[in-house]
Amino acid sequence: MFFALLNGAGRKSDMKLAIAGKGGVGKTSLAVWIGDYLARQGEEVWLLDADTALSLGQALGLPESDIPLPLIQEKELIRERVGEGFIRLNPAVEDLPERLSKKVAGLKLLVMGTIAGAGGGCACSPNALVKALLAHLIIENRQWVIVDLEAGVEHLGRGTVQSVDGLVVVSEPSMRSLQTASRISVLAREMGLPRQVLIINRAPDDFHLPDMEGLPPLTATIPVLPSLASRQLASSSVLDLAEREQLDRIAAKIISALKS
Ligand SMILES: Nc1ncnc2c1ncn2[C@@H]1O[C@H](COP(=O)(O)OP(=O)(O)OP(=O)(O)O)[C@@H](O)[C@H]1O
Ligand SMILES: [Mg+2]
Repeated sequence: MFFALLNGAGRKSDMKLAIAGKGGVGKTSLAVWIGDYLARQGEEVWLLDADTALSLGQALGLPESDIPLPLIQEKELIRERVGEGFIRLNPAVEDLPERLSKKVAGLKLLVMGTIAGAGGGCACSPNALVKALLAHLIIENRQWVIVDLEAGVEHLGRGTVQSVDGLVVVSEPSMRSLQTASRISVLAREMGLPRQVLIINRAPDDFHLPDMEGLPPLTATIPVLPSLASRQLASSSVLDLAEREQLDRIAAKIISALKS
Protein backbone atom coordinates (compact mmCIF):
# COMPACT_ATOMS: atom_id res chain seq x y z
CA MET A 1 0.00 0.00 0.00
CA PHE A 2 2.76 2.40 1.00
CA PHE A 3 4.77 1.66 -2.13
CA ALA A 4 1.67 1.79 -4.28
CA LEU A 5 1.10 5.30 -3.01
CA LEU A 6 4.67 6.35 -3.70
CA ASN A 7 4.76 4.91 -7.17
CA GLY A 8 1.23 5.39 -8.32
CA ALA A 9 -1.38 8.05 -7.89
CA GLY A 10 0.30 9.56 -4.84
CA ARG A 11 3.54 10.23 -6.66
CA LYS A 12 4.75 13.81 -6.48
CA SER A 13 4.46 15.72 -9.70
CA ASP A 14 7.21 18.18 -8.86
CA MET A 15 10.93 17.78 -9.41
CA LYS A 16 14.11 19.55 -8.44
CA LEU A 17 16.36 20.07 -11.43
CA ALA A 18 19.80 21.48 -12.05
CA ILE A 19 20.98 22.76 -15.42
CA ALA A 20 24.66 22.34 -16.25
CA GLY A 21 27.02 22.65 -19.20
CA LYS A 22 29.89 24.55 -20.69
CA GLY A 23 29.85 28.37 -20.72
CA GLY A 24 27.43 30.09 -23.09
CA VAL A 25 25.63 26.95 -24.29
CA GLY A 26 22.17 28.12 -23.25
CA LYS A 27 21.79 26.89 -19.64
CA THR A 28 20.10 30.03 -18.35
CA SER A 29 17.79 30.26 -21.36
CA LEU A 30 16.71 26.65 -20.96
CA ALA A 31 16.13 27.12 -17.22
CA VAL A 32 13.73 29.94 -18.08
CA TRP A 33 11.99 28.02 -20.89
CA ILE A 34 11.34 24.99 -18.69
CA GLY A 35 10.25 27.19 -15.77
CA ASP A 36 7.97 29.30 -17.96
CA TYR A 37 6.36 26.21 -19.46
CA LEU A 38 5.68 24.73 -16.02
CA ALA A 39 4.36 28.02 -14.62
CA ARG A 40 1.85 28.25 -17.47
CA GLN A 41 0.74 24.70 -16.56
CA GLY A 42 -0.20 26.09 -13.15
CA GLU A 43 2.85 24.73 -11.32
CA GLU A 44 4.69 26.63 -8.60
CA VAL A 45 8.22 27.18 -9.86
CA TRP A 46 11.32 28.49 -8.17
CA LEU A 47 14.19 29.51 -10.41
CA LEU A 48 17.47 29.59 -8.51
CA ASP A 49 20.38 31.54 -9.89
CA ALA A 50 23.52 29.81 -8.63
CA ASP A 51 25.89 31.50 -11.06
CA THR A 52 28.19 34.44 -10.35
CA ALA A 53 27.16 36.00 -13.65
CA LEU A 54 23.62 36.45 -12.30
CA SER A 55 21.98 36.36 -15.71
CA LEU A 56 18.77 34.53 -14.81
CA GLY A 57 17.07 37.82 -13.92
CA GLN A 58 18.12 39.31 -17.23
CA ALA A 59 16.89 36.28 -19.16
CA LEU A 60 13.52 36.84 -17.46
CA GLY A 61 13.55 40.37 -18.83
CA LEU A 62 14.14 42.14 -15.53
CA PRO A 63 15.93 45.48 -15.60
CA GLU A 64 19.21 45.44 -13.63
CA SER A 65 17.72 47.52 -10.81
CA ASP A 66 14.94 44.96 -10.22
CA ILE A 67 17.23 41.96 -9.85
CA PRO A 68 17.54 40.99 -6.18
CA LEU A 69 20.91 41.13 -4.45
CA PRO A 70 22.46 37.64 -4.36
CA LEU A 71 21.89 35.93 -1.03
CA ILE A 72 25.62 35.45 -0.51
CA GLN A 73 25.95 39.26 -0.44
CA GLU A 74 23.19 39.85 2.12
CA LYS A 75 25.76 40.52 4.86
CA GLU A 76 23.33 41.72 7.50
CA LEU A 77 20.99 38.80 6.99
CA ILE A 78 23.87 36.31 7.05
CA ARG A 79 25.15 37.80 10.31
CA GLU A 80 21.67 37.67 11.84
CA ARG A 81 20.86 34.08 10.80
CA VAL A 82 24.21 32.32 10.77
CA GLY A 83 26.41 34.46 12.96
CA GLU A 84 30.15 34.95 12.58
CA GLY A 85 33.03 32.86 13.83
CA PHE A 86 30.95 30.25 15.60
CA ILE A 87 28.32 29.72 12.93
CA ARG A 88 24.90 28.13 13.15
CA LEU A 89 24.69 25.32 10.64
CA ASN A 90 20.89 25.09 10.89
CA PRO A 91 19.77 28.70 10.53
CA ALA A 92 16.06 29.54 10.30
CA VAL A 93 15.25 30.06 6.64
CA GLU A 94 11.50 29.34 6.33
CA ASP A 95 10.64 32.99 5.74
CA LEU A 96 13.46 33.69 3.31
CA PRO A 97 12.27 32.23 -0.02
CA GLU A 98 9.19 34.47 -0.14
CA ARG A 99 11.02 37.46 1.31
CA LEU A 100 14.03 37.36 -1.00
CA SER A 101 12.44 36.19 -4.21
CA LYS A 102 11.21 38.28 -7.08
CA LYS A 103 8.02 37.24 -8.83
CA VAL A 104 8.29 37.54 -12.56
CA ALA A 105 6.15 36.00 -15.30
CA GLY A 106 4.51 33.64 -12.81
CA LEU A 107 7.90 32.39 -11.61
CA LYS A 108 9.78 33.01 -8.40
CA LEU A 109 13.37 34.08 -8.92
CA LEU A 110 15.81 33.51 -6.10
CA VAL A 111 19.32 34.80 -6.61
CA MET A 112 21.84 32.83 -4.58
CA GLY A 113 25.22 33.56 -6.15
CA THR A 114 27.71 30.73 -6.57
CA ILE A 115 27.04 27.77 -4.33
CA ALA A 116 30.70 27.31 -3.50
CA GLY A 117 31.28 23.71 -2.55
CA ALA A 118 27.84 23.43 -0.98
CA GLY A 119 27.88 20.23 1.01
CA GLY A 120 31.64 20.20 0.76
CA GLY A 121 34.38 21.62 2.89
CA CYS A 122 33.57 25.31 3.03
CA ALA A 123 31.84 26.21 6.25
CA CYS A 124 31.83 29.97 5.75
CA SER A 125 28.74 31.88 6.79
CA PRO A 126 27.21 32.77 3.39
CA ASN A 127 27.53 29.19 2.28
CA ALA A 128 25.84 27.89 5.41
CA LEU A 129 22.82 30.08 4.67
CA VAL A 130 22.70 29.11 0.98
CA LYS A 131 22.92 25.43 1.90
CA ALA A 132 20.15 25.71 4.46
CA LEU A 133 17.91 27.59 2.04
CA LEU A 134 18.52 25.11 -0.75
CA ALA A 135 17.79 22.20 1.58
CA HIS A 136 14.59 23.90 2.71
CA LEU A 137 13.33 24.45 -0.85
CA ILE A 138 14.23 20.97 -1.93
CA ILE A 139 12.19 19.19 0.71
CA GLU A 140 9.06 21.21 -0.04
CA ASN A 141 6.56 19.17 -2.03
CA ARG A 142 4.41 20.44 -4.85
CA GLN A 143 6.91 22.96 -6.08
CA TRP A 144 9.47 22.83 -8.82
CA VAL A 145 13.00 24.02 -8.23
CA ILE A 146 15.26 24.71 -11.21
CA VAL A 147 18.87 25.55 -10.38
CA ASP A 148 20.88 27.41 -13.02
CA LEU A 149 24.45 26.35 -12.26
CA GLU A 150 27.75 28.08 -12.92
CA ALA A 151 29.35 26.96 -16.19
CA GLY A 152 31.76 24.02 -16.32
CA VAL A 153 32.56 20.97 -14.26
CA GLU A 154 34.31 22.59 -11.28
CA HIS A 155 31.13 24.03 -9.78
CA LEU A 156 29.22 20.82 -9.71
CA GLY A 157 29.21 20.55 -5.92
CA ARG A 158 28.20 17.41 -4.13
CA GLY A 159 25.67 19.40 -2.10
CA THR A 160 23.88 20.68 -5.18
CA VAL A 161 23.94 17.38 -7.01
CA GLN A 162 22.58 15.51 -4.03
CA SER A 163 19.86 18.10 -3.55
CA VAL A 164 18.24 17.62 -6.94
CA ASP A 165 16.65 14.63 -8.60
CA GLY A 166 17.33 15.45 -12.22
CA LEU A 167 20.16 16.97 -14.23
CA VAL A 168 19.73 18.72 -17.57
CA VAL A 169 23.07 18.78 -19.38
CA VAL A 170 23.17 21.38 -22.15
CA SER A 171 25.70 21.34 -24.96
CA GLU A 172 26.34 22.95 -28.28
CA PRO A 173 27.02 20.78 -31.32
CA SER A 174 30.79 20.97 -30.85
CA MET A 175 33.42 18.55 -29.60
CA ARG A 176 34.63 20.73 -26.72
CA SER A 177 31.16 21.46 -25.49
CA LEU A 178 30.24 17.77 -25.64
CA GLN A 179 33.42 16.81 -23.78
CA THR A 180 32.42 19.15 -20.96
CA ALA A 181 28.91 17.69 -21.04
CA SER A 182 30.36 14.20 -20.75
CA ARG A 183 32.60 15.13 -17.80
CA ILE A 184 29.69 16.79 -16.01
CA SER A 185 27.48 13.79 -16.61
CA VAL A 186 30.02 11.25 -15.38
CA LEU A 187 30.80 13.28 -12.29
CA ALA A 188 27.13 13.77 -11.44
CA ARG A 189 26.49 10.05 -11.86
CA GLU A 190 29.41 9.29 -9.56
CA MET A 191 27.87 11.63 -7.02
CA GLY A 192 24.61 9.70 -7.19
CA LEU A 193 22.52 11.52 -9.79
CA PRO A 194 21.67 9.06 -12.58
CA ARG A 195 18.58 10.86 -13.87
CA GLN A 196 20.03 12.98 -16.65
CA VAL A 197 19.18 14.24 -20.11
CA LEU A 198 21.31 15.78 -22.81
CA ILE A 199 20.00 18.75 -24.77
CA ILE A 200 21.82 20.06 -27.82
CA ASN A 201 21.22 23.77 -28.28
CA ARG A 202 21.70 25.61 -31.58
CA ALA A 203 21.64 22.26 -33.35
CA PRO A 204 21.50 22.08 -37.15
CA ASP A 205 18.59 20.16 -38.72
CA ASP A 206 20.82 17.25 -39.67
CA PHE A 207 22.50 16.96 -36.26
CA HIS A 208 23.96 13.55 -35.37
CA LEU A 209 25.47 12.93 -31.97
CA PRO A 210 29.07 11.73 -32.33
CA ASP A 211 30.05 8.57 -30.54
CA MET A 212 31.34 9.74 -27.18
CA GLU A 213 31.40 7.96 -23.85
CA GLY A 214 29.72 9.28 -20.77
CA LEU A 215 27.01 11.44 -22.33
CA PRO A 216 23.46 11.27 -20.99
CA PRO A 217 20.74 10.13 -23.42
CA LEU A 218 20.02 12.73 -26.09
CA THR A 219 16.52 13.93 -25.35
CA ALA A 220 15.99 17.01 -27.49
CA THR A 221 17.68 19.42 -29.83
CA ILE A 222 16.94 23.12 -30.01
CA PRO A 223 17.65 24.96 -33.26
CA VAL A 224 18.96 28.50 -33.48
CA LEU A 225 15.84 30.51 -32.70
CA PRO A 226 15.52 33.35 -35.21
CA SER A 227 13.31 35.50 -32.99
CA LEU A 228 15.80 35.23 -30.11
CA ALA A 229 18.80 35.87 -32.33
CA SER A 230 17.19 38.97 -33.79
CA ARG A 231 16.36 40.56 -30.42
CA GLN A 232 19.84 40.12 -28.90
CA LEU A 233 20.81 43.78 -29.24
CA ALA A 234 17.50 45.06 -27.93
CA SER A 235 16.72 42.74 -25.01
CA SER A 236 18.20 39.93 -22.97
CA SER A 237 14.79 38.38 -22.26
CA VAL A 238 14.24 34.87 -23.61
CA LEU A 239 10.49 34.90 -22.84
CA ASP A 240 7.53 35.32 -25.21
CA LEU A 241 9.36 34.14 -28.29
CA ALA A 242 7.65 33.36 -31.57
CA GLU A 243 8.95 29.79 -31.12
CA ARG A 244 7.21 29.33 -27.76
CA GLU A 245 5.14 26.33 -28.78
CA GLN A 246 8.23 24.55 -30.05
CA LEU A 247 10.02 25.33 -26.77
CA ASP A 248 7.02 24.10 -24.77
CA ARG A 249 7.17 20.77 -26.55
CA ILE A 250 10.89 20.52 -25.77
CA ALA A 251 10.30 21.39 -22.10
CA ALA A 252 7.56 18.75 -21.87
CA LYS A 253 9.85 16.16 -23.44
CA ILE A 254 12.67 16.95 -21.00
CA ILE A 255 10.36 16.63 -18.00
CA SER A 256 8.83 13.42 -19.19
CA ALA A 257 12.26 11.91 -19.91
CA LEU A 258 13.50 12.85 -16.44
CA LYS A 259 10.44 11.36 -14.78
CA SER A 260 10.49 8.07 -16.61
N1 LIG B 1 18.72 28.42 -29.49
C1 LIG B 1 19.15 29.69 -29.44
N2 LIG B 1 19.00 30.51 -30.53
C2 LIG B 1 19.43 31.79 -30.47
N3 LIG B 1 20.00 32.36 -29.39
C3 LIG B 1 20.20 31.59 -28.31
C4 LIG B 1 19.77 30.23 -28.25
N4 LIG B 1 20.06 29.72 -27.04
C5 LIG B 1 20.65 30.72 -26.34
N5 LIG B 1 20.73 31.86 -27.08
C6 LIG B 1 21.35 33.13 -26.68
O1 LIG B 1 22.71 32.82 -26.43
C7 LIG B 1 23.21 33.55 -25.31
C8 LIG B 1 23.76 32.59 -24.26
O2 LIG B 1 22.70 31.86 -23.69
P1 LIG B 1 22.62 31.60 -22.11
O3 LIG B 1 22.89 32.85 -21.35
O4 LIG B 1 21.33 30.90 -21.86
O5 LIG B 1 23.84 30.59 -21.95
P2 LIG B 1 24.51 30.07 -20.58
O6 LIG B 1 24.95 28.69 -20.83
O7 LIG B 1 23.59 30.30 -19.44
O8 LIG B 1 25.77 31.05 -20.47
P3 LIG B 1 26.74 31.23 -19.19
O9 LIG B 1 27.68 30.05 -19.21
O10 LIG B 1 27.43 32.52 -19.46
O11 LIG B 1 25.87 31.25 -17.98
C9 LIG B 1 22.05 34.40 -24.81
O12 LIG B 1 22.18 35.69 -25.35
C10 LIG B 1 20.82 33.69 -25.38
O13 LIG B 1 19.75 34.62 -25.61
MG1 LIG C 1 23.93 31.30 -17.62
